Amino acid sequence: MNTAAPTPAAADDAPDTSADEARFVAWLRQVAPYIHAFRGKTFVVAIPGELIQAGRLNALVQDLSLLHAMGMHIVVVHGSRPQVNEQLRLRGVEIQYAEGLRITDPVALECAKEASGEIRLDLEAAFSQGLPNTPMAHAAVRVVSGNLVMARPVGIVDGVDYQHTGLVRKIDVPTIRFALDSGALVLLSPLGYSPTGEAFNLSMEDLAASTATALDADKLIVLAEAGGIEGPDGSLRGEISEAEAKQLLESGTLEPATAFTLRHALRACEGGVARAHIIPFGIDGSVLLELFRHDGVGTMLVEETLEAVREAGPDDVGGVLALIRPLEDDGTLVRRDRGLIEREIGNFTVIEHDGVIFGCAALYAFPSEAIGEMACLAVNPQTQNRGDGERLLKRIEQRARAAGLKRLFVLTTRTMHWFLKRGFVLASVDQLPRERQGLYNWQRKSLVLIKHL
Ligand SMILES: CC(C)(COP(=O)(O)OP(=O)(O)OC[C@H]1O[C@@H](n2cnc3c(N)ncnc32)[C@H](O)[C@@H]1OP(=O)(O)O)[C@@H](O)C(=O)NCCC(=O)NCCS
Repeated sequence: MNTAAPTPAAADDAPDTSADEARFVAWLRQVAPYIHAFRGKTFVVAIPGELIQAGRLNALVQDLSLLHAMGMHIVVVHGSRPQVNEQLRLRGVEIQYAEGLRITDPVALECAKEASGEIRLDLEAAFSQGLPNTPMAHAAVRVVSGNLVMARPVGIVDGVDYQHTGLVRKIDVPTIRFALDSGALVLLSPLGYSPTGEAFNLSMEDLAASTATALDADKLIVLAEAGGIEGPDGSLRGEISEAEAKQLLESGTLEPATAFTLRHALRACEGGVARAHIIPFGIDGSVLLELFRHDGVGTMLVEETLEAVREAGPDDVGGVLALIRPLEDDGTLVRRDRGLIEREIGNFTVIEHDGVIFGCAALYAFPSEAIGEMACLAVNPQTQNRGDGERLLKRIEQRARAAGLKRLFVLTTRTMHWFLKRGFVLASVDQLPRERQGLYNWQRKSLVLIKHL
């Protein structure tokens, strides 16, 4: 850290260090909420053999060490597909797959053991780095691995004998938890053992999803060559629900490798894992970008929520009115008559559960100034504090971004802290769009809060 004041001569030619410092401090503060939120949480990270082959292991290990230092409980599951194939090729043995799974004959099993042994040692070595002036300085990550996975044979399916290919039968949760709680990082290779003392070759995806489910992990993160899931127009889908994932899998439009990854991610979510991320390993720092930026670089699969967030239609006018009337009566919200709500219902987003409107918010755009107003945010008192307010805000932000808006503002008299906690900052009336300044009610004295999107 340089605490010396710059000399006047140096200050003239030097880049603007104070701006750099301010940016650095602002950036660090911006990621603080995520650090607080993720401390003590369990993340299962699946690293495919392709990532190792592409020479990206060291950078990823540095990033995972950083997460570990922030107090996240990390379980690493590695794959070994290309390494096993390489070994088989060297031995001149045919590579056999069925339904995306390797058929593991005795030679392939030998190759799988060799590949896993080598990768495990490489991973342990990478986590042991600690040279000064590198991101690993002082890292001191302890890695624990062992016979933590029980497996059973896949057996013969549709006439195909998978031989030594296995499926996860049981994960040794108490031992893994003990290791994590004592500050170690747990490393699992894609091999499991049976009570008969045999080893079975597992798929990384099955192992990662089973481990995340057994540990009731907060996140499953799968690094994939292809990256996240794309929509029909080729754009990245940042977030998909379980129902959408099922539809995509049934549509048969996904690449086989992506479908295989998504199927296991979905299984983890159905098993209770709150979030599964599929992210590209080709982007440097992709795990950090996905975790610490609002708009990540992959696809996040989220557990189904019971309520549906959707845009409102004419049939919702009654429900919206019933929700906001009590808040208008006590002065929390500005009064809006039925006619106005009917005319402007298209601006509303609602949360509906079994036909009842439990939450609403409206977006009014001022396109010429690339700013929008979120108005009329309300959640039924019976269902407050369950994240619905946050979900509505997120959807309004998405709508605003889609409309090309760069900023969002709110006027509030009683809810300032809720907005401050969600990235809004206090602003003044003259920062409102011109048209809105004219309508500002000086008697109500609402506070103006603005958020950059
Ligand atoms: C503000 C409101 C929409 C939040 O909805 P919600 O679904 O309860 O919100 P979330 O579940 O996403 O967030 C809950 C958190 O916000 C906090 N919170 C709720 N109302 C708050 C307020 N007025 N000020 C500060 N924090 C508040 C809760 O304590 C809770 O905090 P925690 O996460 O630390 O436990 C809801 O309380 C509401 O409808 N309020 C009345 C209408 C209103 O004030 N609208 C805003 C008009 S500008």
